[in-house]
Amino acid sequence: MISSLLPAAVNRPVDHVPVWFMRQAGRSLPEYRRIRGNGSILDTVRSAELAAEITLQPVKRYGVDAAILYSDIMVPLTAVNFGIEITQGKGPYVKEPFRSESDLARLRRLEPETDIPFVIETVKLVVEELRDSGTPLIGFAGGPFTVASYLIEGGSSKNYIETKTMMRADPSLFDRLMNNLAVMAVDFLTAQVDAGAAAVQIFDSWAGILTAAEYKRFVLPSVKLIMDSIAYFGVPRIYFALSASHLIDQIAVSGCDVVSVDWKMPLSTVKGQLQKSGNKLSVQGNLDPTYCFAPWDAIEKEVMRILMEGEGRGHIFNLGHGVLPGTDPEVLNRIVELVHSVTPGSLVGSV
Ligand code: CP3
Repeated sequence: MISSLLPAAVNRPVDHVPVWFMRQAGRSLPEYRRIRGNGSILDTVRSAELAAEITLQPVKRYGVDAAILYSDIMVPLTAVNFGIEITQGKGPYVKEPFRSESDLARLRRLEPETDIPFVIETVKLVVEELRDSGTPLIGFAGGPFTVASYLIEGGSSKNYIETKTMMRADPSLFDRLMNNLAVMAVDFLTAQVDAGAAAVQIFDSWAGILTAAEYKRFVLPSVKLIMDSIAYFGVPRIYFALSASHLIDQIAVSGCDVVSVDWKMPLSTVKGQLQKSGNKLSVQGNLDPTYCFAPWDAIEKEVMRILMEGEGRGHIFNLGHGVLPGTDPEVLNRIVELVHSVTPGSLVGSV
């Protein structure tokens, strides 16, 4: 089956609804755990052969319509020596968080050829391997807000107090940080697209914690900067944030081609809202990742409901967030088979 991800991303007709899973590389795959070892993910991504193999594992096993680069949103920051550790089982840890003007000096411009040659090499290896099948590789970067939250908080956070306080106490410093991180994302994405990535996704997982007004003032300009800067390449741009239904109108004007939504809002509602703002953007999503632990009958019903909401056009099937550790790979396999078995024409007008 030839991938339909690229036409679906720009709302063109498809012969099947494309499907891939956020965080499909790693996490639940036994073949991943076998080759991964115990070190930090940062060591694994520095080996292009290993990272390429891990990127390809879910494509081989599931027959998904896209590969997603095995890397992390914090990789460019570690490459400019911001001082970040990622230990196994835990998220990023920043030894000296970003707290004042002087910390801007620690964020020098990324030079992909010398800072992240292993990412460029991984992309080339994967693209070469996928050439005959025509399966696209999705490159990615972290959204400036999500990356900023790790830099300012020093790691994962529950209430984002430091981040929100900086926004309110020193908006100009916060703006400069966001701008620097947007430029870094553009440099990171450009390197991946130059090496052969055929689509990109911005993971802005935590942007949904802001109000619509805060998002518009503090986040949208940097997201727009990224989208506009990479428009030149003509690759589809996917934008993902969790719990962001209150931000859809803003995301609609960010310049992205695809809005990836979590499971809390029906796809048909999101589609309707996007059309209202005059946009023909595609949508991605939105099976609750915990559904993968339910009995198959329940999963099947939910997948079919989501496919009908997607109407077989301008829809990329995915989870509403990443694959959870402990997910049975066989379930993901069956979901791919089910999505691929449905004729898109039979879904039109079914809502
Ligand atoms: O899950 C999301 O919300 C997506 C965005 C995101 C990524 N990394 C993308 C990613 C976020 C928020 C991160 C930060 C991060 N990095 C976390 C989450 C911490 C938190 O606050 O909840 C973690 C645990 C890491 C470290 C990390 N990243 C590991 C250990 C791995 C290897 C695979 C695994 O999950 O064990 C990654 C890979 C990773 N992070 C990918 C992406 C897109 C690679 C692609 C893939 O896994 O399919």
